[in-house]
Amino acid sequence: MNAAVARLQSGGLVAFPTETVYGLGGDAGNDQAVAAIFATKGRPSFNPLIVHVTDMAAAEMLAVFNPLARAVAMAFWPGPLTLVLPRPAHSRLSRLVSAGLDTVALRVPSHPLALALLRQVGCPIAAPSANRSGGLSPTTAQHVRDSLPEVMVLDGGPCVVGLESTVLDMTGDIPVILRPGGIPPEAVAEILGFSPILSTTDPTAPKSPGQLASHYAPRLPVRLNATEARVGEALLGFGGTRGATLDLSLKGDVVEAAAHLFDYLHRIDTPDYRAIAVASLPERGLGIAINDRLRRAAYARD
Ligand code: TXA
Ligand code: MG
Repeated sequence: MNAAVARLQSGGLVAFPTETVYGLGGDAGNDQAVAAIFATKGRPSFNPLIVHVTDMAAAEMLAVFNPLARAVAMAFWPGPLTLVLPRPAHSRLSRLVSAGLDTVALRVPSHPLALALLRQVGCPIAAPSANRSGGLSPTTAQHVRDSLPEVMVLDGGPCVVGLESTVLDMTGDIPVILRPGGIPPEAVAEILGFSPILSTTDPTAPKSPGQLASHYAPRLPVRLNATEARVGEALLGFGGTRGATLDLSLKGDVVEAAAHLFDYLHRIDTPDYRAIAVASLPERGLGIAINDRLRRAAYARD
């Protein structure tokens, strides 16, 4: 446990048990740690991640709760329910954890080892399921070792729920179940006093943020494969692009670039410019996910 705590506190990753599935955890406030989660999973695009916290008080510091969201949280936390809520204007969480959205997914897990880890680390932990992208969700420590042999694993035995948490979006007028999971819709309806909408998107299809209507695209138009800034453009460089307004990674490291991506886009998406030009990034490792997001941002315009 002590080694796991130290690793997380220094920006490293640790796989840990929850009651649903094993999660691949990293400090949710550390851009580099969150980028490393995506790199380790080999995710081809940036799906937003669930942020795990110890209790309601910790959750209230990271998201905006209305009375209904608070009621649902009180009813099911700790447990296999994830709430999607608005991020406050100033958040200590990485923007990459939300894949650039103005929302954040929060959950208080009930597994004693997960709670002990969260308390000792002392910060929110971002954790998707601890498997390589496209693989099955791990419900034992051995599953994790088979899928991600290089990752440190806290062994807490088999997961009792064995199915991911129910993801409930509380940001709109009517709550929407984005992903069915460990808490049945009927149980949610009982607390709400009415039935939530069940999202009809195919859970096996490529997921958010591409499918989310509200996915983050800059306000400014985006021009790809730029080698220089044209008049009025901000230039987002990579690997030391000359004349860059901001450089995603001077040393040309895609993991560092991923850690900066959403933060830098937000910073240059201002009325000071009329467009955002982006240098090309290599189509390998996290570069694939970065390019995926940039292409979406560019297409959104045309
Ligand atoms: O049971 C679980 O939820 C496990 C354990 C480790 O807690 N975690 C998990 O995480 O399944 P992951 O990353 O595999 O699934 C996260 C789900 C995805 O469907 C993602 O799109 C959705 O939550 N999600 C996360 N943040 C979101 C947001 N801001 N808006 C909409 N959907 C979000
Ligand atoms: Mg998963």
